[in-house]
Amino acid sequence: MNVINQTIEELKSQINIEKLPKHIAIIMDGNGRWAKKRFLPRNFGHQEGMERVIEIVSAASNLGIKYLSLYAFSTENWKRPMEEVQGLMKILVQYIAKELDKLHKNNVKVQIMGDINKLPEFARKEVIKTIEKTSLNTGMILNIALNYGGRDEIIFGIKNLLNDVEMGKIDINDLNADKFSDYLYTKGQPDPDLLIRPSGELRISNFMLYQIAYTEFWLSDVLWPDFTEKHLLLSIIDYQKRNRRFGGI
Ligand code: IPE
Ligand code: IPE
Ligand code: MG
Repeated sequence: MNVINQTIEELKSQINIEKLPKHIAIIMDGNGRWAKKRFLPRNFGHQEGMERVIEIVSAASNLGIKYLSLYAFSTENWKRPMEEVQGLMKILVQYIAKELDKLHKNNVKVQIMGDINKLPEFARKEVIKTIEKTSLNTGMILNIALNYGGRDEIIFGIKNLLNDVEMGKIDINDLNADKFSDYLYTKGQPDPDLLIRPSGELRISNFMLYQIAYTEFWLSDVLWPDFTEKHLLLSIIDYQKRNRRFGGI
């Protein structure tokens, strides 16, 4: 399904490459509904969604995006039937295994947001392999949010902060909003400039709560398995028309 009449080249010509969002975050939602519409099991939607991950990662990296954060599995998604959770983990591992060489060749550095200790052993191993293999890459940073929750991340940050205070590494009186950012999974990275949520839902679902204070939102009814490079380009064109004031005038 593609209702965008313009070609990729036409869309690209409307983008000011000097003013690209540095950091794009995406809540990849709508896989289940995509499958349901086709009378297929939900995991077919996850499989198709993974194909879009491949396309969008490569499109973002080629365009010159510096940071891409993808919400793949939330701390709340464990509530789903075991069969779906296991299927999702398998699809994810398959994707990583299949794409690792390509990601590496494209100089993409993969990082994980979330607590991977709770992932099944086979998934954790593959994830660690990917982080290690791409750790010295200097291209786009791809943050994959896996067993990620925004509230969990803040609590994880507070725990590490308290530890540093105890060890005398930081004086609590010196703490400010910027310094606290260093206690999050996105340490050293700019906050997302643009957050994309497909699937028609108008909520954050516990994603990057601390980092999105001044992020621009781009919402769309398109389901994630139907999300193409054209949607990504459209979101950037739209983003570049916004007037970001950050509380100023
Ligand atoms: C997003 O698609 C993928 C994950 C949350 C893992 P959903 O599975 O949430 O799809 P819908 O929202 O039910 O359509
Ligand atoms: C958000 O989607 C999580 C991911 C995309 C991984 P959900 O489908 O879990 O969110 P809700 O339940 O609609 O808020
Ligand atoms: Mg959903």
